[in-house]
Amino acid sequence: MCRAARRSETGPLTAARDGKNMTNRDGSRWRDSHMRKLPGIILAGCAGACLAAIGQVAAEDADMPEIDGVKIITRAPAPEGHPLDEITSGFVYRTEETQELELDDFTNPGFLMVELGQDLWSTPEGSAGKSCESCHGDASESMKGVRAAMPKWSEAAGKPLTLEQTINACRTDRMGADAWKWESDQMLGMTAFVGLQSRGMPVKLDLAAGDMQSWWEHGKELYYTRTGQLELACANCHEDNYGNYIRADHLSQGQSNGFPTYRLKWQKLGSLHRRLKGCIKDTRAETYDVGSDELVALETYLAWRGTGLSVETPAVRN
Ligand code: HEC
Ligand code: HEC
Repeated sequence: MCRAARRSETGPLTAARDGKNMTNRDGSRWRDSHMRKLPGIILAGCAGACLAAIGQVAAEDADMPEIDGVKIITRAPAPEGHPLDEITSGFVYRTEETQELELDDFTNPGFLMVELGQDLWSTPEGSAGKSCESCHGDASESMKGVRAAMPKWSEAAGKPLTLEQTINACRTDRMGADAWKWESDQMLGMTAFVGLQSRGMPVKLDLAAGDMQSWWEHGKELYYTRTGQLELACANCHEDNYGNYIRADHLSQGQSNGFPTYRLKWQKLGSLHRRLKGCIKDTRAETYDVGSDELVALETYLAWRGTGLSVETPAVRN
């Protein structure tokens, strides 16, 4: 869509850094170099047609998009203490074609997995002979709002649990069934189905529960720490440069409100942790495992950064 942005593909990520530090996870150094902006890889401006296209998206967004009669909040005032004034969903930065896929459940390719999740909801499994439905009944009532408040503090685990971890705790502890693998079709289907019950609801974590605050702090530290050969922090791309282009991709604020998300590139629904691993890998850093404390901490902080945006699960992105 924007030819000018494509030109930067010839200036690959390697041009960005001298690569003298393989890994830099030292938070203090981040502050020292905070003002350094992304060099070569970002095109600061995108002339003519591109700017017009961005303006158009902004104007359209004035009336809130709706899915199946449910209003989707894609712009919201940032929560107190947030570095930006306004937060925006990744939806805003996608092309009209991609947005339209998400706005109609019949064309949203994520819905195949939602159907799988719905089937699994009422399928008994494990030694207790129970299904999710045996205990939770109608998901549209019992699961409403659940996704909007994840990750949530668990007294039993002594840490916040993501939706995936909560579902697996029910499977292993209450059903006598095996845990699902993080990126399995079953887990993606179930998280999409459960997530859908919160569609349109604003993200809001309970950060006062348990020790949520220190997980939030840890997540924040990770967010601002430069990693990898390219020495880039999440903030370099998603806070300093959202709205700009990186290679041919229109950078968003890296919000988590749409997950699990159908990515056209993956041709599949994928979890937030899969996406985060990809972003970290792009900085040429060692990444963390799905479900690791680091990614749970990042997810906690990210969810707070998206406070007030609607749950869009399953969102569609490129
Ligand atoms: C034997 C009963 C039982 C079964 C079967 C069961 N759960 Fe649960 N589940 C619970 C209980 C009890 C809780 C904790 C209730 C609470 O804290 O409100 C819970 C909590 C949850 C939560 C967190 C709700 C919240 O408000 O944060 C989710 C999500 C969940 N279960 C999903 C599932 C799914 C998906 C399945 C099937 C794979 C399942 N559960 C099977 C009993 C069960
Ligand atoms: C080199 C730049 C870069 C860095 C560094 C980076 N990302 Fe990304 N990220 C992208 C691009 C490009 C996309 C796809 C376009 C978009 O949504 O911004 C993306 C997408 C995302 C998305 C999906 C947004 C959506 O709406 O579906 C999330 C979440 C995200 N990033 C979080 C992070 C986090 C957390 C970090 C730090 C661990 C990080 N990113 C580091 C470039 C980066």
